[in-house]
Amino acid sequence: MIPPLLFQLMILLSWPINALAESPAIAKPNCPTSCGNGNGSVSIQFPFGIGDGCYLDHQYEVTCDSSTPFLRSINLTVLDISISLEASTILVNHTVLRSCNLESIPGEFVRNGTVNLESSPFFFSDENRFVGVGCNTFAYLSSNRSIISGCLSFCDRSNISAETMPLSNVTLRNSDCNGIKCCQTRIPSSRDLQQLRMTLSTTNYEENTTMTEQNKCKSAFLVDQEWFGNNIDSPDKAQGLKHVPVLLDWGIHESSFDLIERNPSKRYNNTSDCNQIFAHSTSTNTSTNATFTMPVRRCRCNPGYEGNPYLLHGCQGIGIGFGALFLLIGAWWLYIIVKRRKNIKLKEEYFKRNGGLLLQQQLTSLDGSVDRCKLFNSKELDKATDNFNMDRILGQGGQGTVYKGMLTDGKIVAVKKSKAVDEWKIEEFINEVAILSQINHRNVVKLLGCCLETEVPLLVYEFIPNGTLLHYLHNQAEEFQLTWDMRLQIAIEVAGALCYLHSAASFPIYHRDIKSANILLDDKYRAKVADFGTSKSIAIDQTHVTTKVKGTFGYLDPEYFQSSQFTDKSDVYSFGVVLVELLTGQKAISSTRSQDNRSLVTHFIVSMVENNLFDILDPEVTKVGKKEEIMTVANLAKSCLNLNGKKRPTMKEVATVLEGIQASQKESNVQQNYEEVEYVRTELIEPWDVVST
Ligand SMILES: *[C@@H]1O[C@H](CO)[C@@H](O)[C@H](O)[C@H]1NC(C)=O
Ligand SMILES: *[C@@H]1O[C@H](CO)[C@@H](O)[C@H](O)[C@H]1NC(C)=O
Ligand SMILES: *[C@@H]1O[C@H](CO)[C@@H](O)[C@H](O)[C@H]1NC(C)=O
Ligand SMILES: *[C@@H]1O[C@H](CO)[C@@H](O)[C@H](O)[C@H]1NC(C)=O
Ligand SMILES: *[C@@H]1O[C@H](CO)[C@@H](O)[C@H](O)[C@H]1NC(C)=O
Ligand SMILES: *[C@@H]1O[C@H](CO)[C@@H](O)[C@H](O)[C@H]1NC(C)=O
Ligand SMILES: *[C@@H]1O[C@H](CO)[C@@H](O)[C@H](O)[C@H]1NC(C)=O
Ligand SMILES: *[C@@H]1O[C@H](CO)[C@@H](O)[C@H](O)[C@H]1NC(C)=O
Ligand SMILES: *[C@@H]1O[C@H](CO)[C@@H](O)[C@H](O)[C@H]1NC(C)=O
Ligand SMILES: *[C@@H]1O[C@H](CO)[C@@H](O)[C@H](O)[C@H]1NC(C)=O
Ligand SMILES: *[C@@H]1O[C@H](CO)[C@@H](O)[C@H](O)[C@H]1NC(C)=O
Ligand SMILES: *[C@@H]1O[C@H](CO)[C@@H](O)[C@H](O)[C@H]1NC(C)=O
Repeated sequence: MIPPLLFQLMILLSWPINALAESPAIAKPNCPTSCGNGNGSVSIQFPFGIGDGCYLDHQYEVTCDSSTPFLRSINLTVLDISISLEASTILVNHTVLRSCNLESIPGEFVRNGTVNLESSPFFFSDENRFVGVGCNTFAYLSSNRSIISGCLSFCDRSNISAETMPLSNVTLRNSDCNGIKCCQTRIPSSRDLQQLRMTLSTTNYEENTTMTEQNKCKSAFLVDQEWFGNNIDSPDKAQGLKHVPVLLDWGIHESSFDLIERNPSKRYNNTSDCNQIFAHSTSTNTSTNATFTMPVRRCRCNPGYEGNPYLLHGCQGIGIGFGALFLLIGAWWLYIIVKRRKNIKLKEEYFKRNGGLLLQQQLTSLDGSVDRCKLFNSKELDKATDNFNMDRILGQGGQGTVYKGMLTDGKIVAVKKSKAVDEWKIEEFINEVAILSQINHRNVVKLLGCCLETEVPLLVYEFIPNGTLLHYLHNQAEEFQLTWDMRLQIAIEVAGALCYLHSAASFPIYHRDIKSANILLDDKYRAKVADFGTSKSIAIDQTHVTTKVKGTFGYLDPEYFQSSQFTDKSDVYSFGVVLVELLTGQKAISSTRSQDNRSLVTHFIVSMVENNLFDILDPEVTKVGKKEEIMTVANLAKSCLNLNGKKRPTMKEVATVLEGIQASQKESNVQQNYEEVEYVRTELIEPWDVVST
């Protein structure tokens, strides 16, 4: 038990966990938080936004047509938006200045292009590099009419000397883009860089190079150095570039800032700081032509907080919860220990209650070892069935639910979870598990083991892949139809299994719920009798058991129904119903038949009497089955369904007749006469020992 005080403490402390678990908002409420799909998805953080009311002002308006985030104010596609303690940046997709002009005369200007971010809150970051590509190329960058950076690249390096360099400042470095076909250089770390002109020109130096198609092209661009370093490892790759990511710093214009937030410290409760003026943007008053500058501020979360500092409550505490968290973890740990102990005790209790000790004793005495019936532990079966996941349910019946599971060794099993245990008499259950685990018949589903540590006992069976006979007989949609030979084979196998249970096993076992739904088919359509939930084993000197009537309507022996006395002949009756199902392909109880013929047994008997049996047979049967064979099986079924149990054949006799048909198929000249067998049986019937309820 958890001390009540501790429990209260836990409740009290559980709220900061919720606060911690909630991930901080990145966009305004009800606004899209991302644009694009898969790897190319860009998270749209405020002040950027998609749609009215989602962005701070038109500078940050993003459109998301065809999954491409487009920043309208500067006409560029956005590849990433990032807000960190150090910087607020965006990555944009920019075109490369490029020329493949064949006639370019040495020393002449080739091409130029400008990028103008003036009056926007966006600036070229000094984390970009300026790159020139091509043979005999001089690429340079100018701003406000003065050159601020540039570099040279040659394809023929034979006589490059200091004198041939037009600019002494140009550096040749980085083994991959170092002046041979490609050159790169830093740009000044002026914060206010908003307007750039890139120029490509040809040096006076004459290249001693055969001009390939590619070598004829020159290009120049600004590029995010991180991307360039990670993606471009050869001049040839640089030569092919048409678009490159460029990193832009951004902030918020003083004027816009005032619009959203007049008193920052109050509004943000000191979780964020927006006092840093990091750059000045230049604007031109269109009416007066006067240029003026405007401060641009940037926000960041204060120490101990993280998130989006541009949003109200965007920064969330990451440190506050720690003290409480430790206390909580301590409490949780205690609780787990207490609970685990309680669990172990409970498991032991269940094990005792479910007769685990008795089973161990019985199995040991039967066989000298417990190997025959493995005792699984509950954890193993939880894992095997994915905690008894609904998706794993194979079927549900009166006795419980069957789940498909996979043991750690990869073996596929069926796990049956019994319904409430109180109705079961533990000794009987244990007796049955012990006996079933002794049964080793190829047409009886094998019990692999059980688990008694849980509230209700769990039984573990081998998994039979093809489902029930019921499904194959009555599912019209099923493309696969059981042939006459298969039906005969199934009947023989089930009869053999029942015969074994009734006589060959060390104690007679009555199945008590034979029906097509309890006959499973394996991958070769071999029958396996399943569901011994209601089965009874009886002492050798008994010929019947007196119980509460259990079974399935439509298969139930009418004599048992009246007397509550279950005998081996009650199983024979149920088997007779299965035989009729195999012959007719119809359900034991069906509302599609007329009122009088709801019950398949009645329907069948009436047809036999009125001599129109062949009208009700399954076409699949009449197609191939020989008339004599069909008649033999029909007569056998009829005798199994005799209202007087004593007049029914034993399972052994049934099995013999069925095997006889198969044998006669092989030696078709041997005639099988069922009539003879039917009357031999009467002599074999043992005295009917009546025990009253
Ligand atoms: C997406 O990302 C994964 C791993 O980061 C990478 O293997 C894959 O190539 C990427 N796909 C595209 C289309 O970029
Ligand atoms: C963006 O493109 C439109 C038309 O394509 C043009 O009118 C506008 O001036 C451009 N804006 C910028 C900042 O280049
Ligand atoms: C950049 O734009 C070009 C042309 O629109 C496009 O082909 C390219 O895929 C874009 N690059 C990235 C990384 O989105
Ligand atoms: C830029 O190129 C244009 C033609 O495209 C030319 O008229 C102009 O003079 C060039 N400017 C510079 C500085 O080279
Ligand atoms: C451009 O240069 C002129 C003088 O050369 C200077 O007065 C002006 O402030 C500069 N503008 C910028 C934006 O740096
Ligand atoms: C070139 O370098 C010298 C000093 O090394 C410096 O004074 C000059 O401003 C630089 N020129 C350019 C265009 O960067
Ligand atoms: C390059 O070297 C060759 C001889 O090796 C010479 O003829 C030529 O003038 C040199 N070019 C320059 C630009 O120095
Ligand atoms: C040009 O290169 C070739 C071989 O690459 C060489 O034989 C020739 O001497 C070079 N000419 C000049 C002027 O450097
Ligand atoms: C700021 O904190 C005070 C008390 O610490 C609180 O009453 C107020 O609601 C908070 N304001 C905001 C905007 O979070
Ligand atoms: C916020 O922090 C500033 C200094 O950083 C301080 O002067 C101010 O009183 C703080 N405001 C609140 C509400 O804590
Ligand atoms: C441009 O200048 C005029 C006159 O100084 C002023 O009235 C107007 O508000 C200015 N426009 C902008 C957009 O700043
Ligand atoms: C502003 O400059 C443009 C060209 O640069 C000129 O045509 C216009 O007359 C100027 N306007 C004023 C008010 O000076």
